[in-house]
Amino acid sequence: MKSSFVCQQCGTEYSKWMGKCNACNSWNSLVETTRITKNQKSKVKSQNHSSKLEIQNLTTVKISTIERMSTNISELDRILGGGLVRGQVVLIAGEPGIGKSTMLLQMANSLQATVYISGEESATQIAIRAKRLGINNKNINLIESTDVDEILQLLSTVDCGLSAVIIDSIQTMSTSDLTGLAGSVGQVRECAFRLLRYAKETGVPVIIVGHVTKEGTVAGPSVLAHIVDTVLWFEGERITNLRILRSRKNRFGTTDEVGIFSMEENGLKSLENAEKLFLETGGGGTPGSSISLLLEGTRSILVEIQSLVVPTKLAFPRRVAQGIDSSRLEMLLAVLTRRCGIKLYEMDVFVNIVGGIKTKDTGLDLAICLSLASAFYDKALPKKLISIGEVGLLGEIRKVNMEDKRVKDGKRLGFTQIVSSKGSKFLKEVIKEYIK
Ligand code: TYD
Ligand code: MG
Repeated sequence: MKSSFVCQQCGTEYSKWMGKCNACNSWNSLVETTRITKNQKSKVKSQNHSSKLEIQNLTTVKISTIERMSTNISELDRILGGGLVRGQVVLIAGEPGIGKSTMLLQMANSLQATVYISGEESATQIAIRAKRLGINNKNINLIESTDVDEILQLLSTVDCGLSAVIIDSIQTMSTSDLTGLAGSVGQVRECAFRLLRYAKETGVPVIIVGHVTKEGTVAGPSVLAHIVDTVLWFEGERITNLRILRSRKNRFGTTDEVGIFSMEENGLKSLENAEKLFLETGGGGTPGSSISLLLEGTRSILVEIQSLVVPTKLAFPRRVAQGIDSSRLEMLLAVLTRRCGIKLYEMDVFVNIVGGIKTKDTGLDLAICLSLASAFYDKALPKKLISIGEVGLLGEIRKVNMEDKRVKDGKRLGFTQIVSSKGSKFLKEVIKEYIK
């Protein structure tokens, strides 16, 4: 096998690296790729000749039930659609330090026989982590290597059935068939293809770790997303211990589920009852505080929004938003000023979602406005009130995604007054009724 550089824009092939593609003039579009030599081509041809390729009719395809292997981590099973499937390739992407290695070691602990391949950490480091997690399991085997071909060679000698192979991480893997450095687009793609082939041939699920930067653009996860069956994205702030695992692609399940975890001293803990997680104190009942229901996947989570409104001494008042989009806050402030007559232009405004949650869910608009109005008039909202709704530029309350479910969940969680687009048309009326 030989390597060549192929332009991703026009497909022109070069034998050596060039900064620019001469054919289409695009810069940095060349990606190193393996090329099959003449000898290998004829071999492939003769193999194909004897292949048992056949045409199947859609209606006669046999559908076998998918057998799933539970990972014993309830939140992980939830987003996988019940567990791992034979030959499944899963990409777990996230920023460094978010908890990927921790979760995979915990997963390995509950499977029959796993091989954990680490190109990043030494076996000692993994053993130290395992000790911290209280894991001492003979079913977990370690390989320290970064050479994907060597790894696959070694795996082919294992005759007992493996439950899973973990690759930590794809950015450290490389093949000597390519000259590029580990982590380059060509290497990441080629290594992933080889691992995919292994998974499909042997039926062993392969879980691949991929790092992303804050911008989420590093070569890796975005290149890999097309190759793998399932893409799980780890989200969270390293300062808070909340971790959300989101499914972005899943050939064996839905993509609207999320897994919610907290990072504890001894590993990740599944949070099955996350509904009241951020409202342990009860929330509400004080000026500036309002409660709403956030939707994560198909699950409702109660959140408290807190606002502080203080007279400003600055020419341009401060608008500080934590957890919500600051331009959305600007818009809501304009609506409150113009449509509800609340003079916020002479005030510094601070808004925060308690618990370090970040969201772009517009269903929180109404609660943010009520929290601001409550802070402005220094009057508390009723304690058992939650508000759900998007606020439009005309000051109207609009219906939000899955509103009925949120209202139902709000009632189930013990809230007696629920303000939404169903009973109220305009923000002004709601402020008048509950605050002024
Ligand atoms: P790690 O799994 O190494 O992250 P990743 O593989 O995504 O880079 O997790 C690293 C962080 O998690 C580290 O800052 C320490 C913290 N941590 C805990 O809080 N509790 C634990 O039990 C473990 C193992 C790690
Ligand atoms: Mg790691």
